[in-house]
Amino acid sequence: MEIATAKMTDLEGVMDLHKRYHISSINPDDKADGFVTTNFTPEQLQALVEKECGITIAKDGGRIISYAMAASWQFWSEWPLFAHMIQKLPEHFLEGQGLTVDNSYQYGPICVDKSYRGSGVFEKVFNASLDSMAGRYPIMVTFINQINPRSYKAHTQKVNMNTVGTFQFNNNDYYMLACPTKTK
Ligand SMILES: CC(C)(COP(=O)(O)OP(=O)(O)OC[C@H]1O[C@@H](n2cnc3c(N)ncnc32)[C@H](O)[C@@H]1OP(=O)(O)O)[C@@H](O)C(=O)NCCC(=O)NCCS
Repeated sequence: MEIATAKMTDLEGVMDLHKRYHISSINPDDKADGFVTTNFTPEQLQALVEKECGITIAKDGGRIISYAMAASWQFWSEWPLFAHMIQKLPEHFLEGQGLTVDNSYQYGPICVDKSYRGSGVFEKVFNASLDSMAGRYPIMVTFINQINPRSYKAHTQKVNMNTVGTFQFNNNDYYMLACPTKTK
């Protein structure tokens, strides 16, 4: 398995995986094991790759089997959910430090092909994504829908994320989580 930062030529494989587990197109039998909700335009994906260097991928035999997105709040501010999170950031703290758009970035969505789940791919892609942003920001922030218990367990028990609060948006209940980008 190879972990890398995605290039434009990887986007087709990333979007193939994304659509398979997106809430609007997921096989109903797969929904209990988690789903992603963020939509991207081609222009947003291009900016994510070229300006933010923000997609970490895992490939097996040349096929993309996992991706994790990560980018500045400025990038995410176009999406209403992230605009709402930006407003909520000052209410939340990690180890006593208030969250801001300058000291943190937003990670997610992350996705692992279902035949590779529970194999350690999640932890490898998560940590590679974190490392890729550590030189730019001290804190990583994400959200998880409260009806996605698999993702919540993975992020709080397989890797070291802390639940810093909860919020509601569009009749959905979310956890807000954060962690330092550098391990002490
Ligand atoms: C979320 C995701 C990235 C996690 O990666 P993963 O490889 O599945 O994670 P793991 O299997 O290592 O860890 C998940 C844990 O939750 C457990 N789990 C599975 N279903 C669960 C459920 N319904 N409730 C609670 N825990 C559950 C698993 O058994 C595992 O714990 P264990 O290893 O102690 O048995 C992956 O499941 C995925 O891509 N899901 C679809 C997209 C998604 O939900 N993305 C996240 C959006 S926030």
